[in-house]
Amino acid sequence: DWKMDAFVENAVADIREKVGDGKVLLALSGGVDSSVAAGLLSRAIGKQLTCVFVDHGLLRKNEGDEVEAVFGPKGNFDLNFIRVNAQERYYSKLAGVTEPEQKRKIIGEEFIRVFEEEAKKIGAVDFLAQGTIYPDIVESGLGGESAVIKSHHNVGGLPDYVDFKEIIEPLRDLFKDEVRKVGLELGIPEDLVFRQPFPGPGLGIRIIGEVTAEKVQIVQDADAIYREEIAKAGLDRDINQYFAALTNMRSVGVMGDERTYDYAVALRAVKTIDFMTAEAADIPFEVLQKVMSRIINEVKGVNRVFYDLTSKPPGTIEFE
Ligand code: XMP
Repeated sequence: DWKMDAFVENAVADIREKVGDGKVLLALSGGVDSSVAAGLLSRAIGKQLTCVFVDHGLLRKNEGDEVEAVFGPKGNFDLNFIRVNAQERYYSKLAGVTEPEQKRKIIGEEFIRVFEEEAKKIGAVDFLAQGTIYPDIVESGLGGESAVIKSHHNVGGLPDYVDFKEIIEPLRDLFKDEVRKVGLELGIPEDLVFRQPFPGPGLGIRIIGEVTAEKVQIVQDADAIYREEIAKAGLDRDINQYFAALTNMRSVGVMGDERTYDYAVALRAVKTIDFMTAEAADIPFEVLQKVMSRIINEVKGVNRVFYDLTSKPPGTIEFE
């Protein structure tokens, strides 16, 4: 794509001019925007860029390792990559907390704390990079990792918990589809470039009620099966967002000749243009049945699967 090719070339030149021999720090979430920003900055300034990736233990199955495979030392990008395994920290902060807003607040604040600690270790930097894209600026951006940056890093303006001089936002003129093209141009893998939106608080808001390591594992496994079957059925690019959530409900079932008392998983899949309104996707019944049977057979602790038919409004896309 010559247009995106030209964009990359110009952006690289601009970044080099602006940054000089300065140091740049980026919070990498593994979402589309921050990943593309990382790729672009890496192309421009290599190891002058440090990316901090916080694994809060609320990512999808294998996601932390996937991000590391792309951006870590064995990946294809020239940059400093720091992965913070903060799973236990998050789980202990979340223990016993059931109120959705409280959970969101804890997850957001813990992110700031972890990121701040890493930033202190790195010391003063010249620039803080953000994967802000055009729709974020015009305030119509909904969903996706850029919204994470807004609610977690940017509460009330620029983050004051990192010692930096200036913000750098190399994607601020691009729409999402252009960001994806730039990502492909930079050699970021397709599955990352075409990733569906994933909320900043992650699985924390897809586990209704208290979050525990055990529940995270259940929802990760169920969600991985669901995504695999949706992709196999060729529906992954038609449905705008789809995921498994763990309800807080347990009910009686039977497995072999044993009585079970296990959790119910809810499957969500929506068609939407702007994520402001949405409708449940019309997934073929056989696909749903396959997903149900695999989840119940393969995921310990689950004995019931629901498909969520609710539109938005009145429902939201996420469960909390
Ligand atoms: P709701 O649940 O409000 O979700 O219908 C609309 C879209 O926003 C995403 N979402 C978030 N994204 N941080 C994010 O980056 C968040 O805290 C957050 N909450 C919801 C959700 O996944 C959907 O795409």
